[in-house]
Amino acid sequence: MSFLAPFRQLTPTQFETTWRSPSNIAFVKYWGKKGHQIPANPSLSMTLKECFSETKVNFTPSDTLSVELYLEGVKEDKFSQKIEKYLRSLVDFPWLQNISFKIQTKNTFPHGTGIASSASGLSAFALCLTDYLFHLSGEKNNFYPTASYLSRLASGSACRSVYGNFVSWGDKSDFVADPAEFHPDFLQLKDSVLVVSGEEKKISSTSGHGLMLEHYFSEARYIQAKKNFESLSSSLKSGDLEHVGKILECEALSLHAMMLTSPNPYTLLRPNTLAAIEMIWAFRLETKLPLYFTLDAGPNLHLIYPESCQNKIHTFISHELSSLTQRVIHDERGEGPSRC
Ligand code: DP6
Repeated sequence: MSFLAPFRQLTPTQFETTWRSPSNIAFVKYWGKKGHQIPANPSLSMTLKECFSETKVNFTPSDTLSVELYLEGVKEDKFSQKIEKYLRSLVDFPWLQNISFKIQTKNTFPHGTGIASSASGLSAFALCLTDYLFHLSGEKNNFYPTASYLSRLASGSACRSVYGNFVSWGDKSDFVADPAEFHPDFLQLKDSVLVVSGEEKKISSTSGHGLMLEHYFSEARYIQAKKNFESLSSSLKSGDLEHVGKILECEALSLHAMMLTSPNPYTLLRPNTLAAIEMIWAFRLETKLPLYFTLDAGPNLHLIYPESCQNKIHTFISHELSSLTQRVIHDERGEGPSRC
């Protein structure tokens, strides 16, 4: 990518920066890769507001690359190793191998809630890294494309978190995400996360992507995802919430159908996920209110609805769905990351 040219040869100096970056929920799912962190189909997400990571990075010149990561003040060797592996893979920036990284990070939401902490945490780290590249090089342009590019290499869905509102990836470019057009009505969109189970998932998303390589239905899935992407993009522009909702649910169920029908079949759905889906469908039929759900790679449901129905939907959640859930996290569309 030509915008990375100014960063290839730099001399490290001491630097410190802190960024907040939100999680995002995919409306059209990224599921399957072709090559290293290249999506097999376009995806589109809504950036969240309240669920974010705040990450501070200290960069210190050193003879060798080293990473020390603290999550909520506790040293985490597993995450340090993951970041170190990622930094070693950035071979276009050889000077990064002469830095010692101290990373202090925290999330506003608990682990295992169906809210992607890898999207917020890794985009927050990539934003700090981008800040450092721009500081050392004096570069002024393409800050967010650079941050999106570096986020993608850490975790695909993280590349969409560097922008607010609605964000696409794999449509205009496979390498960076782009802001998507949307109708002003969708500024009011809410996302209430029903935490059905907080257990660590048995199969990671990265392994799930891998299973798509030998999946009997993968080609059909990529055609469906592309069609859903185009259809959702146009409903997002026209303000057609009913159509957005239809695609949301189709995408959620298709994602989980891919897991159920993969060469090594598995499911991340729990009985209470299905019970809640049945209740949402019955509620919608009865009240005609625009309440829709989506799912990430996990058992927890994201309920998507406009602010105009918030009171009725909160009542429905607390009266009828709460017995199926461990907790509920109320979030909404957000504006994207910020430097602290
Ligand atoms: C179901 O971005 O976590 O959330 O690129 O291997 O880190 P890696 O995968 P990841 O996959 C996310 C899958 C998803 C759908 C989505 O966010 O589009």
